[in-house]
Amino acid sequence: MNTLPSEIRLYDLHPSDADIRSDVLEGLARRPKQLPSKYFYDARGSELFECICEQPEYYLTRAEIALMRTHAAAIGAALGPHALLLEYGSGSGTKTGLLLEHLPEVAAYVPVEISRSALTESVARLSERFADIQMLPVCADFTQPITLPQPARRPARTVIYFPGSTIGNFSADQAVQLLTQMRRAMGRNGAALIGVDLVKSPQRIEAAYNDAAGVTAEFTLNLLTRLNRELGANFDLGAFRHRARYHPERERIETYIISRCEQQVRVGGHRVHFAAGEAMRVELSCKYSPASFAHIATRADLSVSDLWTDAEGLFSVQCLRPAGAPG
Ligand code: AVI
Repeated sequence: MNTLPSEIRLYDLHPSDADIRSDVLEGLARRPKQLPSKYFYDARGSELFECICEQPEYYLTRAEIALMRTHAAAIGAALGPHALLLEYGSGSGTKTGLLLEHLPEVAAYVPVEISRSALTESVARLSERFADIQMLPVCADFTQPITLPQPARRPARTVIYFPGSTIGNFSADQAVQLLTQMRRAMGRNGAALIGVDLVKSPQRIEAAYNDAAGVTAEFTLNLLTRLNRELGANFDLGAFRHRARYHPERERIETYIISRCEQQVRVGGHRVHFAAGEAMRVELSCKYSPASFAHIATRADLSVSDLWTDAEGLFSVQCLRPAGAPG
């Protein structure tokens, strides 16, 4: 694992075992049972996610990178100079590199990421390439209120970067809440640059979440391995399986962990019963049309000032600004 250069300090607000325990027990008490997808991203989960991004069926990452290669200069020009770049869920940092190359005179880069290993590795790589940009990494759950570190140089604006269609992992109401939080963080002259996966053929979407090599299935079930390690649970991985289905009427993939048999599992000091075939929802991946995403933005008092897509029209990157702000 890469370590950070000595001049870069990590602000560590990682959720505690107690946070994870109470989120998991709350989700297991619901009917149907649910687990929060943010807990996929331990070190192994982040590694598996990088591997998903390389699977032939998972078009999202390739389409977004192609889009950034084609449009990064126009995107940088639209966002403007001296920005503080605040990135939510920074992941591996490939797309961030493309953005930083084209964003003029960046005041500072503040990545907020729940996976300590993914954060450290991406900042170590980016700080080598962009030695002049101050980097202030924060290990935290970006859906919770966080006090951000202050940059040395005063920025002219705040630009929030939220790539990868992670916005799709939130329900419509949660997405509106998150975009509202972003609007407050960006201020009147700021912007948010959001990667949004577009609605397309159900077969293409479903294949992306059921890759032939089984990497997505391993990623999903790794959540149970994490709970075994961190909460002293005793999930038998062979007794559960992954299922991801696209629901065209809801325009979203829903991923479940299915119990293969009737069983009892010990989790965080509780005994949890699973019926044979019982499905526990672990992730949503919502897909949007330009119109449906514009609607979500409007509900958060934001408007779409620019929209870019890749050549095949699979994926979009959209620039949102406070409604009524000059474009
Ligand atoms: C991070 N997020 C946008 C991915 C997605 O496509 O929903 C996570 C993922 N889950 C399964 N494959 C990828």
